[in-house]
Amino acid sequence: MPDDARGTQHLTALAAPDVLVDWRLAVCFETAHAAGVLDELPATATQIAAARHLDADAVRAILSVLAAWEHVTADEHGVFSAEPRRLDPHERAALAQHGTWIRRWATLVPRRIHDRQATAPDVPLAPDPATGLALLESASRPYISAVVEVCLNACRAGTDEQGGVRVLDLGGGHGAYALRFAHRGCATTMQDLPGVIDLAHSDGRLAAAGVDLVAGDAFTHLAPGPFDLVLCGTFTNMFSLDRVRGLLGRLRAILTPGGQIAIATWLRDTGPVGAAFGVQMLVATPSGDAHGHDDYRTALADNGYTDIRIVEVCQPPLAVILAQR
Ligand SMILES: C[S@@+](CC[C@H](N)C(=O)[O-])C[C@H]1O[C@@H](n2cnc3c(N)ncnc32)[C@H](O)[C@@H]1O
Repeated sequence: MPDDARGTQHLTALAAPDVLVDWRLAVCFETAHAAGVLDELPATATQIAAARHLDADAVRAILSVLAAWEHVTADEHGVFSAEPRRLDPHERAALAQHGTWIRRWATLVPRRIHDRQATAPDVPLAPDPATGLALLESASRPYISAVVEVCLNACRAGTDEQGGVRVLDLGGGHGAYALRFAHRGCATTMQDLPGVIDLAHSDGRLAAAGVDLVAGDAFTHLAPGPFDLVLCGTFTNMFSLDRVRGLLGRLRAILTPGGQIAIATWLRDTGPVGAAFGVQMLVATPSGDAHGHDDYRTALADNGYTDIRIVEVCQPPLAVILAQR
C-alpha cells in the first residue's frame, strides 16, 4: 500500500493477508471498546469491573491481550493504561468494527450457506450509519485519487478537454469520490438513498463544493443527466448479477453517446482480498457478490456497451471496469 494512502484499510476485513489484524486482538478490542473498558483507563481490572459491572477476571484476560499486542500497558501494580499506542477515535472505531465483522462472519457464513436471507440482528453492520460511512471512507481513501484519474483519463481520451465532465457518482455514500471529481473541475452529481443524502446535506461539504445531491433508489429512479461518466464505486457488488444487468441497461439512458461507465469493485478472481470480498457481500447484503471479470464483461456487452476494459489500481488491486455507451 502506498505510504501516502494508508487509511485504515489494514484494520478492515478487506486487509491483505500479510497485514490482517489478528482475530484475537480484534475480538478483544471490540469487546473492550463496546463495554466501556477503554474509557476507564488508566485503572486496574478490579476498578474497571466495579465501575462497569463486569467480571474482573474477564476484564484482566481481555486487557492482557491488548497489552500483549501493545495497545495498552500494565504497570507493576496491575494498572492498565492506554499507552503506548493510543489509537485516535476513528482508528478505535475501525478496529472495533473489525471485531464486529469477525463475529458477523462467524455467525452468518455457517447460516447463509443454507439460507441466504438468514439474519444476525445482534451483530450489526455498523454502530450507526454515519460511523459506517466514515469507516468506509477511510478504507476507500487509498483508492480515491487513482480511481478518479482512471475515470477522467477514460473520458478525455482522444480529446484535449480539461474540465466540464458531467459525472454521476452513483451510490456515492461518504462522498469522497464526488468531492474529488468536483475538485477536478467536473460538474458532479451524487445519488444515494435518502438517509445517506440527508447525512450529506447535514455534513455540508459536498454542497459547498457544488456537488448536486440526489436522493433516490437507483432501481426506481436515476438522476436524469445526461452524464459523460457514471461511477458505480463498490456499488454493483451489493446486488445480484441479474439486478446489475438491469441497472446497466437503464444507465445507458442517462449517458451521453460515447459516455463512460466505470465500475470500481473487488473482483472474486483477483486474489485473497477479492475472494474475501465475496464473503463480505454474502454476510452484508441480501444478494450481493464479488462478481468476476467475465460476469461484468458479459453484462456490459449484453447491454450494448463497447470498448470494455479493466484497469487495476493500488494494492491490493481494486478493479475499475470501464466501458463506453
Ligand atoms: C459500499 S457503499 C459505496 C460508497 C462509495 N461509492 C465507495 O466506493 O466507497 C454503497 C453505497 O450504495 C448506497 N446504496 C445502496 N443501495 C442503493 C440503491 N438502491 N440506490 C442508491 N444507492 C444505494 C448505500 O447507501 C451506500 O452509500
